[in-house]
Amino acid sequence: MSMLITGGAGFIGSHFVRLIINQGCKVVVLDKLTYAGNLENLKDIVENPKTSKLYKFYKGDICNQELVERIFSSEKIDTIVNFAAETHVDRSILSASSFIDTDMKGVFVLLEASRRFGIKKFIQISTDEVYGTAYQDSFRETDTLNPSNPYSASKAGGDRLAYAYWTTYKLPIIITRASNNYGTYQYPEKFIPLFITNALEDKKLPLYGDGKQVRDWIHVDDHCAAINYLMMHGKEGEVYNIGGGNERYNIDVANIIIDELKKPKTLIEHVKDREGHDRRYALDCTKLMSAGWKPKIKFENGIRDTIKWYRDNQAWWKRIKNGEFMEYYNKQYSHRFTSADPQLR
Ligand code: NAD
Ligand code: TYD
Repeated sequence: MSMLITGGAGFIGSHFVRLIINQGCKVVVLDKLTYAGNLENLKDIVENPKTSKLYKFYKGDICNQELVERIFSSEKIDTIVNFAAETHVDRSILSASSFIDTDMKGVFVLLEASRRFGIKKFIQISTDEVYGTAYQDSFRETDTLNPSNPYSASKAGGDRLAYAYWTTYKLPIIITRASNNYGTYQYPEKFIPLFITNALEDKKLPLYGDGKQVRDWIHVDDHCAAINYLMMHGKEGEVYNIGGGNERYNIDVANIIIDELKKPKTLIEHVKDREGHDRRYALDCTKLMSAGWKPKIKFENGIRDTIKWYRDNQAWWKRIKNGEFMEYYNKQYSHRFTSADPQLR
């Protein structure tokens, strides 16, 4: 039997593929290879004969019912882990359409095929962003969802649709809601890799608003380990928060990056805030901890290793940071910067 990992060429998906294959399991990846999908993230698996024999790749869209059903019928899939998604909040504000397609309709197509083919386990990778801003306490799994941007709203749609397939059809689903991930191979549009790579290029770091927004950072390896644990020990029909226990102000993370790379603090530029910016994300992970799992990687160590990886693997991100990326970057940031020197932008 094989595990279907959708979005396996993306940031978290590629780490999860590596984890599962290294346990000796067969993996089928279905990935559309959008701007965020990158086969280089899986290069080590393809090039190693021990792991390549356990790996099969399909380029395609999770919204494509015919393709999804063909994979289910020809590959003996018993478990599906759905990472495939449009994932960047700022892009969803510029244009939401692909988010509605993939994060809602795509989940529907996968759920329907799973029902038809009698899948044994369906893990829907949701996000802590479905709760919206945590003004006071941390969110529990039973709290009301209050998503506030097109990305989190479409993810909430996929999250609740997966739950509906449990209550209605007893499809064996588990939903995970993780906090912000960081680590290697993260596409450099996201906060941490954008700031590291901009600093390495001596460009400005565009900090939204006052920089006092809070995110709870979890290392991608911890996140993948938690999903793997829940696949074995989680209860069907349940939602699990997966947090890192590392709440940090954005400005503090920016300063760590600057200090680690020995760059001047003046590279940080406070710019116009994101519309509808969630002030704080925070998760109560009592349920996951009671099930027997907690994160291992300390933020101070994880961020240092991550910065080092981006410093040592410039070819990986320099190939990304041109073409489509620069088009997006200029659209997103050119009106925000006040720096006179265009070289810095
Ligand atoms: P990513 O943007 O790096 O990767 C997404 C992958 O999905 C890419 O390989 C892309 O090509 C693929 N994809 C997009 N649309 C597709 C489609 N229609 N059909 C098939 N493949 C498609 O994302 P990520 O950061 O690795 O996030 C993975 C999952 O984890 C997402 O569901 C996201 O919502 C969730 N999540 C992410 C974070 C985070 O901090 N990054 C936190 C919590 C949850
Ligand atoms: P991001 O990585 O986009 O994740 P999310 O918004 O989904 O949590 O952003 C993390 C935080 O960093 C968020 O509060 C927005 C902020 N941010 C900036 O200040 N500047 C930037 O250029 C980006 C991309 C994010």
